[in-house]
Amino acid sequence: MRGLFITFEGVDGCGKTTQAERLAEYLSSHGRQVVLTREPGGTEISEKIRAVLLDRSNHTMSWLTEMFLYMASRAQLTEEIIRPSLDKGSVVISDRFMDATLAYQGYGRGLDREMIRQLNIVATSKLIPDLTILMDLVPEICSRRMAAMGKSIDRLEGAGSEFQKKVREGYLEMAGMESQRFRVIDAGKSIDENEREIREIIGSLLQ
Ligand code: TMP
Repeated sequence: MRGLFITFEGVDGCGKTTQAERLAEYLSSHGRQVVLTREPGGTEISEKIRAVLLDRSNHTMSWLTEMFLYMASRAQLTEEIIRPSLDKGSVVISDRFMDATLAYQGYGRGLDREMIRQLNIVATSKLIPDLTILMDLVPEICSRRMAAMGKSIDRLEGAGSEFQKKVREGYLEMAGMESQRFRVIDAGKSIDENEREIREIIGSLLQ
């Protein structure tokens, strides 16, 4: 039995990490084998790449370098963790995956989106999530939330509100184009309400 691959996406501060963790706990407690991971990161090598990507002192990093580093992190994570776990029948939940590069480096930075799509195919060896939960919220509220949590801002989060706005619009456009894979959740609702909604979506998928 092949497992199930679920990804969470959204702008910084949208609450996806909390929901990914809650879903992982919920499915584990219901007897599923669950692997929770994140991008960039999720393996020893990918976490090192993450540190380079998010380091604010790397302000001279070119956008192409940035894009290739996300792809490199993804290639390692896919081959080392995601594919073997799916082959064993696990549910793999990833806090971000390939759509983030289209949203951030494509819609946000303005890099060629067709090129990113092609490189995603290479980096993932054609792996596509079964379900992508997009936690949608206006970036202004997300920034306020992060500030209220006292979270320090990394290199991408510090890219400005216009950038985050483009990222959000990109995500929504992608969700519209691939409506069979994406489910859009209103992240302005409470954490518990979002959790319930996500459980319902997953429930119908696991039946
Ligand atoms: P995180 O805060 O969700 O862990 O993600 C780290 C940052 O990296 C976040 O600002 C989004 C950004 N990012 C991209 O720009 N492109 C990508 O492909 C991925 C996976 C993340």
